Amino acid sequence: MPGLSPLSDPAIVPNPFPVYAELSEREPVHWCEGLNAWAVLRHADCTAALKDSRLKAERMEEVLGAKFDGRALPPDSIYHRFTKNVMMYTDPPLHDELRRATHAGFTRSAHEHYSEVIKEVAEDLVAELPEGVREIDAVAALAAKLPVNAAVRAFGVPESDLEFVVPRVDTIMTFWSGPQDQPVDLDTLLEQLTDLHVYSLELLEGKRGKVLPDTVIARLAAAQQNPTETELRQTVHQLVLLLIALFAPTTPGSVSSGMLTFAKNPEQIRRFLADEACVDNTANEVVRYNASNQFTWRAAATDLEIGGVPIKKGQNLALFLGAANRDPRVFTDPDTFDLGRTNSGKHLSFGLGLHSCLGRQIASLEVKWFFVALFARFPSIRLAGEPEWNTNLEFRSLSSLPLAVG
Ligand code: HEM
Repeated sequence: MPGLSPLSDPAIVPNPFPVYAELSEREPVHWCEGLNAWAVLRHADCTAALKDSRLKAERMEEVLGAKFDGRALPPDSIYHRFTKNVMMYTDPPLHDELRRATHAGFTRSAHEHYSEVIKEVAEDLVAELPEGVREIDAVAALAAKLPVNAAVRAFGVPESDLEFVVPRVDTIMTFWSGPQDQPVDLDTLLEQLTDLHVYSLELLEGKRGKVLPDTVIARLAAAQQNPTETELRQTVHQLVLLLIALFAPTTPGSVSSGMLTFAKNPEQIRRFLADEACVDNTANEVVRYNASNQFTWRAAATDLEIGGVPIKKGQNLALFLGAANRDPRVFTDPDTFDLGRTNSGKHLSFGLGLHSCLGRQIASLEVKWFFVALFARFPSIRLAGEPEWNTNLEFRSLSSLPLAVG
């Protein structure tokens, strides 16, 4: 295996794309020591890997050992009960059963309702900016707030519970995506994961703040008609996963990088305002251009080959969705932000196949309705200072975005 990979250098986070392009030509399946994984960069290889049943999502026991220096936990620890019973980290057939447990919250008619609610959430958020406002930090003022407001009004997380839920999700996300040298201590992680389970059960049982009707949580709770103990336990685990996904940096990352991209490409704002088809393609092109989850993980269950490179049983793969989205074999002029692109929907930002993002439609609705509301009030946005990126490539997002509006 060759030496150090530039992919683990945090200096690339603001603009990893030239590094991806170069590696994608020279070494598209590439050993990355910093990630302890094979980085897979091309669209075709990522697509094949996401569909390959020899690559497993179940790998959180190894993650625990890697992040906490070989620590193991008993099988009945909340860590194992959770990670071995949520769709994101399980494989079929259990995965499919767990995903089905959330179906009531994600039907077509439920999404039609969420679309209306999210449209209002976006309008209210933009309307909150004071009259005559000229300059904002668009991360703090808009991108960070949108998913929280949608979590309350479309998902049904009671507003009064946010101060309990959000810091606990932050702890878990820091563990999930943090560097190998963990800034989170294991006891705190286990305690807060337990808190979220107790909370989710109480929420389903109607013992917490008021859940708004017709929301994801209200629908999941209503579907619990005399559940067996296993069904109830499964729903609680999935609800904890949903809370984590809801308050993760992915949606703020997409909204804020989208604003940055529009600010740098004012002609695309004009197209957005002039052409309904461009509005409909906005979420796809925004998340293609900047994937807020730049890579996702799998573990090889057997020896296999990807792009002609031999992978050994037990090795990890980091599938670079963000690099696949800029693959010139699929996207013409991939570094151009183009709302008229006819195949933006081929992006891999929400994954693909059986683990494809359950919140894909909701997140896309948030992005779309946000820009509709933003440009209806501010048909011009411009950079008013240097944007600042967080240092995490896996969940790539802005920490600050100074924008001149109006
Ligand atoms: C822009 C925002 C989002 C992005 C970029 C994103 C990205 C992703 C990606 C890449 C995956 C696939 C992971 C894999 O295959 O390893 C995924 C899975 C998932 N996402 Fe999202 N996500 C977003 C928002 C959400 C939201 C708001 C929810 C809440 C409902 C959510 C819930 C999930 C769940 C439950 C899974 C696991 C699905 C499964 O394993 O079957 N996501 N997401």
